[in-house]
Amino acid sequence: MTTTIELKPSASPLSDAERDAVLANPGFGRHFTDHMVVIKWTEGRGWHDGQLVPYAPLSLDPATMVLHYAQEIFEGLKAYRQPDGSVATFRPEKNAARFQASARRLGMPELPVETFIEACDALVRQDQAWVPAHGGEESLYLRPFMIATEVGLGVKPAGEYLFLVIASPAGAYFPGGVKPVSIWVSEDHVRAVPGGMGDAKTGGNYAASLLAQAEAAAEGCAQVCYLDAVERKWVEELGGMNLYFVYGDRIVTPSLTGSILEGVTRDSLLSVAADLGHTAEEGRISIDQWQADSESGALTEVFACGTAAVITPVGTVKRTGAAWQQSGGEPGPVTLKLREALLNIQRGTVEDKHGWMHEL
Ligand code: COI
Repeated sequence: MTTTIELKPSASPLSDAERDAVLANPGFGRHFTDHMVVIKWTEGRGWHDGQLVPYAPLSLDPATMVLHYAQEIFEGLKAYRQPDGSVATFRPEKNAARFQASARRLGMPELPVETFIEACDALVRQDQAWVPAHGGEESLYLRPFMIATEVGLGVKPAGEYLFLVIASPAGAYFPGGVKPVSIWVSEDHVRAVPGGMGDAKTGGNYAASLLAQAEAAAEGCAQVCYLDAVERKWVEELGGMNLYFVYGDRIVTPSLTGSILEGVTRDSLLSVAADLGHTAEEGRISIDQWQADSESGALTEVFACGTAAVITPVGTVKRTGAAWQQSGGEPGPVTLKLREALLNIQRGTVEDKHGWMHEL
């Protein structure tokens, strides 16, 4: 079932010159396009009143449930300008499925996959002048999300929700681009626990990461790395990205334990690496092994991956009492090769043999 999305165009979109000025240096998550999609869900009625409306603030009662109990989920995916000027999104059905899994975990209604994709398509079609030019690092980042909008302070799954999609032109997530990022390994704080909601994409997980992220910044690092909650030993993920370890021709990413987010980029790289002749595996890596294998030279590169960050090399790694550098602090060759291979698929400059690109 698809929910019809009615168009109410913006009366005052940004002028071409204003938009071009933004697209010349978009940064990440700082500017938003002219429209947004809004779809309501009400108990007993289901999904209804889909609209593509001018981008605008929401008006919420102070007792709206999401403001108190954080019943919220979100996604991140990108639209890329193709060589012929058309626009395509990368694996939207994967994000739609994960959005449904997140909804189940937070007791929220599941949005049909086709409605999720149609909502993203409708926004990108309307605001396609905001999709950056073909060939560069830039893309249009889509942020679908859902919030509990019932008003009341009783703790229960809400009976009303809003699903929205907003879009933001995006350059590099890290100001340094592909320059290696530094990592602080948090041995005091954990991001998620077994049986918790670490594998759901919900704002609560990001809120839980902020204190350790601030500690990472105080240690001079750009990102925090979390260990598992039980043994405080196994490497899980960064605050908002998955990790890959490169052992020569073999790449390994931490297995999905239930407390790790199943990243779409993480999943895609298992295939892209195999296409390039690498062995790509899921496995467990302890923080002690990470340090020892780096110091012995067996671990040749480490990189972070995610929709926003694409693939970003890891440079300095710090933990209490120790610090070391991956690949001499430079982006490693396997990292750069995988990054280029993935971006080429997304930009439409090589054959999309996995059928990942969704044309609008
Ligand atoms: C993404 O990579 O899309 C993320 O959700 C990470 C972060 C920007 C929250």
